[in-house]
Amino acid sequence: MSADPLIDAQARAVLDRLEARDAEERQRGTSRAERLRQITPDVGRFLQALVLAARPRSIVEIGTSGGYSTVWIGTAARAVGGSVTTLEIDPAKVRLARATIDDVGLTATVSIVEGDAFAYLSGSAEPQDFVFLDAEKEDYLAFLELVAPRLKPGGVLVADNLTSHTEDLAEFRDAALSDPRLAAVVVPIERGELLAVRV
Ligand SMILES: C[S@@+](CC[C@H](N)C(=O)[O-])C[C@H]1O[C@@H](n2cnc3c(N)ncnc32)[C@H](O)[C@@H]1O
Repeated sequence: MSADPLIDAQARAVLDRLEARDAEERQRGTSRAERLRQITPDVGRFLQALVLAARPRSIVEIGTSGGYSTVWIGTAARAVGGSVTTLEIDPAKVRLARATIDDVGLTATVSIVEGDAFAYLSGSAEPQDFVFLDAEKEDYLAFLELVAPRLKPGGVLVADNLTSHTEDLAEFRDAALSDPRLAAVVVPIERGELLAVRV
């Protein structure tokens, strides 16, 4: 049992609600487009630990869904005085994420941007401290090409699903692991997390 010191009772209640909904959707066979497709609690803890260690001023999350991962990242960002911009294309998910962030009291830390993350990232040359990638697997490689040049030295990229989607992400994995700008490894926890740091 983890203590989760940054997750207060309010946040715990919201995480429990989203975990129950995600599990029910998976069991019911809700369509992929509608499902929340959240990270697992231990990946939330992994992200929190990385944010606490790296102490980024700004964090970008690609793929908000209902805001479950955003709560884990956002509570750590708040603890280190950072902020989170989370990008989501589906308006129904954006509505749910706004309720999540309100209910946890993270509105001062988290900004939710509705729209295509490609458009958002292409339109900004801003150097990035910390990026969490959790969108459609077929887009990972294109996101890597956008994110890698924008990472500051010491900037961190984490991507979910490297071992759960081995085939779909083979090209992305090879590109990230062989990129001379990145010190990168696949951490074999849960669904497999790419951890890459800009050298
Ligand atoms: C796997 S889910 C994210 C789960 C979330 N990170 C969590 O753990 O709670 C992927 C999300 O990415 C969104 N998405 C897919 N392509 C996108 C894009 N190009 N721009 C913004 N959002 C996108 C989907 O609508 C979906 O809600």
